[in-house]
Amino acid sequence: MQASAGANAAPPALAIRDLRKTYDNGVEALKGVSIDVAPGDFHALLGPNGAGKSTLIGIVSSLVNKTSGEVRVFGVDLHAERDRAMRLLGLVPQEINFNMFEKPLDILVNYAGFYGIPRAEAVVRAEQELRAAQLWDKADKMSRTLSGGMKRRLMIARAMMTRPKLLILDEPTAGVDIEIRRGMWQTLRQINAAGTTIILTTHYLEEAENLCRNLAIIDHGRIVESGPMRSLLAKLDVEGFLFDVEDALPATLPEIAGTQVRAVDAHTLDVDMPRAMDLNRVFAALDAAGIRVRSMRNKSNRLEELFVRLTGEPPHGAQAAAGEAA
Ligand SMILES: Nc1ncnc2c1ncn2[C@@H]1O[C@H](COP(=O)(O)OP(=O)(O)OP(=O)(O)O)[C@@H](O)[C@H]1O
Ligand SMILES: [Mg+2]
Repeated sequence: MQASAGANAAPPALAIRDLRKTYDNGVEALKGVSIDVAPGDFHALLGPNGAGKSTLIGIVSSLVNKTSGEVRVFGVDLHAERDRAMRLLGLVPQEINFNMFEKPLDILVNYAGFYGIPRAEAVVRAEQELRAAQLWDKADKMSRTLSGGMKRRLMIARAMMTRPKLLILDEPTAGVDIEIRRGMWQTLRQINAAGTTIILTTHYLEEAENLCRNLAIIDHGRIVESGPMRSLLAKLDVEGFLFDVEDALPATLPEIAGTQVRAVDAHTLDVDMPRAMDLNRVFAALDAAGIRVRSMRNKSNRLEELFVRLTGEPPHGAQAAAGEAA
């Protein structure tokens, strides 16, 4: 029995340490990735094409061999105890990969069979999962006839058949329209609320924002940002400007509600303000303080540039990573 003192320190649902993957062709897909996902979390792994998301998920689900590093699932070392770790995991792969000529009920029951779940139990679970995925009325229809959104929900229902403690989804909503995506969010929220830890990769910031409490952003095989969704969004909501001013700045700078004002040097003022705020308020306050602005420019915000890239909007100007500082 393990009723020891360590019992209150629950291990992370997923702990990854310094994970590296170099493919045979020399591509370094992962260059030392470390992530912790807490039990019960809904965690996003956000990154552009080729960032390394599927490689990471492939390693965690034992489909890809790591080059080095450590992966633990609820404290179980994936390398040392592969089967035990795998029994805790459910995977929804990027591509739809069930047999289109089978019926949803059979797909689920047969899948459970691979995992040694007795048929009678599998049939009970299949009904539960098909109902949860709002597919019970399709249980005996040919899967080929399901809509795109239904097929994706069927993939989720199938992964849930083994009652995984950690469900990993690789871009479950890629290429599906917003209506279907919202329906899937609903399904995933319910699964998470019922206690399953979820890790989801996505291209869509909006999706991560809607679903996830924590996220890691991966780019070129490295984690470039991680933490609570809320603090990241707060960072993204701030816009920074540099004002070049006519005369030397006064010793006491004006206070502008909602902004952070700081002198960079005698003639340069740095102002961080919420994106939604009207710049006129800043100008008015500077004017009232007798500060005359000669010119202003955007501070380059690497995080923002990264996000603009991730969310697929065209990068503003050609000012990519102008400054090396932090
Ligand atoms: N089997 C493979 N052999 C060689 N290189 C690979 C292999 N699989 C992936 N890569 C390379 O590894 C890098 C990471 O790819 P990966 O599929 O992990 O990215 P991803 O973040 O999942 O991208 P996407 O959003 O397009 O699915 C890419 O440069 C890719 O070309
Ligand atoms: Mg991928």
